[in-house]
Amino acid sequence: MPTPHRDFENLRVFGHPLIQLKLTRARDRHTPHLEFRRLLNEIAGLMTYEVSRGFPTRDVDVETPLERTTGTVLAKPVTLVPILRAGIGMTEGILNVMSEARVGHIGIYRDEQSLQPVAYYAKFPPDIADGPVLLIDPMLATGGSAIHAAGELKRRGCRDIRLICLVCAPEGVRALADAHPDLPIFTAALDRQLNEKGYILPGLGDAGDRIFGTQ
Ligand code: PRP
Ligand code: URA
Repeated sequence: MPTPHRDFENLRVFGHPLIQLKLTRARDRHTPHLEFRRLLNEIAGLMTYEVSRGFPTRDVDVETPLERTTGTVLAKPVTLVPILRAGIGMTEGILNVMSEARVGHIGIYRDEQSLQPVAYYAKFPPDIADGPVLLIDPMLATGGSAIHAAGELKRRGCRDIRLICLVCAPEGVRALADAHPDLPIFTAALDRQLNEKGYILPGLGDAGDRIFGTQ
């Protein structure tokens, strides 16, 4: 069970040893990108168990080989929205445990000088607002990208938006909570701070580059 952070009401941090072991391997600069990608997906899958808590369900009839009984299905469509590129690195891990979900995409990169988000792509299911949305991005640094993405989703009517990430900086958590106080943030770690280039310390470097081997 992730614990609410004492300084940030919206932040839930997964201290579970299985997640922390994998995060440590992911932080290691010597971990090759193939393993890095696998670790991110595995962590995302483990986190999904708690992130999806409270998703609306309804009863259905199901026929076992022996008799009829009552089972459960999702009552509302669930949509995953990875922020391109790096969010892609956690999406498969979530789909592995929640194959019912659809996948929308939002493309945003940070301008290297200003650190402001630059949006370049968006494609969502037309009925995305009808159910919960998991916004996916391993890194919450200044918060600019997540704030922009959550704004886009709200403009399309989404109300139940949950951010799933790997490593956060306090600066980003604060900024996101100010802009979208209703949005819960699930993370494996709250790190110390940003450096002068907007990278998280200690962090794990550039997540997109490490996932796709482009560094
Ligand atoms: C990274 C990361 C986040 C963003 C976080 O993406 O995946 O989307 O930076 O920074 P912020 O909180 O300050 O906005 P990046 O801009 O490197 O793009 P990429 O995933 O395409 O490499
Ligand atoms: N984006 C990353 O990929 N890493 C950081 O540390 C900050 C933003």
